[in-house]
Amino acid sequence: MDPNVMVQWLDSELQELLWAYVAETAHSEEVADILRAVSQEHPDYLRVKELFETMEAYRRIGQEVYARRRERRVDSAYDLACGHGLLGILLAWRLRSVEVVCVDLERRVAFDHYLEGVRRAGVELSNVRFVEADITTAEQAEQCLEWYCLRWRLEDWHRVLKSGCQIDALGDETAERLQRGIAINAVIAWRIMLMTLLGRACPELPAGVLLSDLEIKVLQAYARKKNIKQPTHLGDAVRLVARLGGYLCRNHDPPPGHQLIWQGYTVLQTLCEGFSLKGDPDSS
Ligand SMILES: C[S@@+](CC[C@H](N)C(=O)[O-])C[C@H]1O[C@@H](n2cnc3c(N)ncnc32)[C@H](O)[C@@H]1O
Repeated sequence: MDPNVMVQWLDSELQELLWAYVAETAHSEEVADILRAVSQEHPDYLRVKELFETMEAYRRIGQEVYARRRERRVDSAYDLACGHGLLGILLAWRLRSVEVVCVDLERRVAFDHYLEGVRRAGVELSNVRFVEADITTAEQAEQCLEWYCLRWRLEDWHRVLKSGCQIDALGDETAERLQRGIAINAVIAWRIMLMTLLGRACPELPAGVLLSDLEIKVLQAYARKKNIKQPTHLGDAVRLVARLGGYLCRNHDPPPGHQLIWQGYTVLQTLCEGFSLKGDPDSS
């Protein structure tokens, strides 16, 4: 087949076969529907050859990343020299708790068409990003990953600050007060992230490293009530905080992310307030 043949050039019968293949390979009718819609809207962007290559790569790489994710051995995936970036978008679609970074010399419009297609299907993929970089040696590739790991943390921090702490909604009227409000929230956002990350990396630390005595007492009372293991270590305490925020805590669930922690931490603060109004939580 001519490698430049566009999906939209095929007759309708062949196209239907192609979408059936995509749905089967991705284990998702939705993925096939999204790509069909993108291909119809932008007939000059999706080549048959590229679609096959991407789906076959996705089948193998997706399975590998999925298996490693289950064993909690992978947090992020990088598609270096990603071209249109469809593979990265599909990986991010399948594994929402894995951060996917697509790297190429320049961001192609096709990448945004695919992202837009996913968005139209009602999914806002917050775990895929595009980085423009010129990688010429293995060392450069390694450094690019190292830098991006740091940058990702900063982006996460801004997300916690904006969506979690909602600093945009601060009602202070003077710059000085706003400055103070932002500074306090910056520390809170940092603390929430530390909870997520330290809870994963050093779960055996004492819970008191990050939580106050009152917070620990409240979590212990909650654990007693729910018949859950007492949270003496940080890892257990953080999972309990996440649980308050909606984490299901099933065996196959990946460790909780920042959003669950900020949701849970908000609930924990309300519980702490209730406990302090009532008196010593130990007496309950
Ligand atoms: C054949 S395409 C492969 C695209 C994609 N990996 C795929 O399998 O569909 C090769 C890609 O490598 C990118 N590339 C070439 N040299 C590069 C460099 N020095 N740094 C980053 N990307 C580069 C090109 O821009 C191009 O998008």
